[in-house]
Amino acid sequence: MNIVMAASECAPYFKTGGLADVVAALPKALANNDHTLTVVLPKHRNLPDEIQSKLKFICSFDVYVRWRKQYCGILAYETEEVTYYFIDNEYYFDRMQMYGEMDDAERYAFFTHAFFEALDRLNLEPDLIHCHDWQTALIPTYIKAGAVQRNVKTVFTIHNLKYQGIFPLTIFDELLHLDQIHLGGLEFNGTINFMKSALVHADWVTTVSPTYANEILDPYYGEGLETFLHERQTSLTGIVNGIDEEIYNPESDLYVSIPYKKHYGRKKENKRIMQQELDLTVSKEIPMFVVISRLVEEKGLPLLVHIIDELLTTESVQVVIMGTGETGFEDHFQDISNRYPNTCRFMNVFQEGLARRLYAASDFFLMPSRFEPCGLSQLIALRYESVPIVRETGGLKDTIKPYNEYTGEGNGFSFTNYNADDFLNTIRYAIHLYHQPKHWNQILKNVYKSKLNWEHSAAKYENIYKKLLNPKYEEEH
Ligand code: GLC
Repeated sequence: MNIVMAASECAPYFKTGGLADVVAALPKALANNDHTLTVVLPKHRNLPDEIQSKLKFICSFDVYVRWRKQYCGILAYETEEVTYYFIDNEYYFDRMQMYGEMDDAERYAFFTHAFFEALDRLNLEPDLIHCHDWQTALIPTYIKAGAVQRNVKTVFTIHNLKYQGIFPLTIFDELLHLDQIHLGGLEFNGTINFMKSALVHADWVTTVSPTYANEILDPYYGEGLETFLHERQTSLTGIVNGIDEEIYNPESDLYVSIPYKKHYGRKKENKRIMQQELDLTVSKEIPMFVVISRLVEEKGLPLLVHIIDELLTTESVQVVIMGTGETGFEDHFQDISNRYPNTCRFMNVFQEGLARRLYAASDFFLMPSRFEPCGLSQLIALRYESVPIVRETGGLKDTIKPYNEYTGEGNGFSFTNYNADDFLNTIRYAIHLYHQPKHWNQILKNVYKSKLNWEHSAAKYENIYKKLLNPKYEEEH
């Protein structure tokens, strides 16, 4: 199959979140199954130098955004598996931030127009176009509306329903070049909603875990779009993300001080080094909990704020928090870190190297999200043999099975309700088992066995593609 993916970020080129990891890993996994994969991205600021120097200029042309004529350059970067095309326009994309600019609607409308023009210029004849999140959500709309003549199926993946691309109605006339008849497909509650338009127009909609696919049918998680999701129930699938096990590998990770694999003694050496470095009490026995997260409400941080004093005063533990985000959380964790110098550290940064070393050093990984479409950090934690403690929502529920001391099953700990006491009790239970070698060894064994790579999930996407391209496929298989 010839598959083109469109997205606004892709690791290691540009990354603000998990979307970038998925757009990096899924095409590779599909290419390894003998498909032709092309990824089209905006050329944001700060492309790493080693890639910038290898970019090949392919062509340039003008793209109209209504009456405004804009330059569009196409730059290519080829890897063994995947070809990446970057849409180059400095005015739109050489910005401090990838989103959250005043003219996001215009920037991503431009991207959409440029995308179709690029398909023609590059003679790409995809069988299928797979779009990710609101920034690329207009693509299925243009195809269904017949605004571009293409015989191609579209898949749209929701990575996070909370971010929908909502703009004033006036952009319809100003930016979109569509006939008035299509306004209804894009309009929602008196605004233009990019995400909604993809939910209406894509041939198939996916999201990043089966549980989230179910949850978003409910108004609590549906972010106002639940009605449209209900209408799609027969073509809405949840597929959990994997992680790239070559990139995340404690045995070969250059950031990790003492490489290890299924070797608790060596892993504990990483803990000792981290304790020394952070000036925490050096002890093998004290369990170390880490939080690595954007500091925003939806990650469940209010629960942590609620319990952290009690946890640090009543249990022998260490808590290390790394991340940036809302100032309320930043201030609070800084204050806690000042008040508990031997047992708590807050690092108000996001550094990949430090993150990897914290995964490696920790015994437990805390992720009490209020909602979580999939979540990658808990998978990385499993890979670095740090036991996740999560709330049972979205992908966290699908990837972390709570340990059952009677059957010996389970690769982590979890709680159901979004409730601080339940979170604390779960942590206490985890500490209790941490000190019992029989259970702890069993938990570690289960962690080692967790399936984390893309193989299984890529096959599920492939099935959807095949079903769309050959409606008889399902009957035959
Ligand atoms: C978003 C979601 C996260 C998911 C990621 C990749 O960032 O919030 O849960 O893992 O996308 O799909």
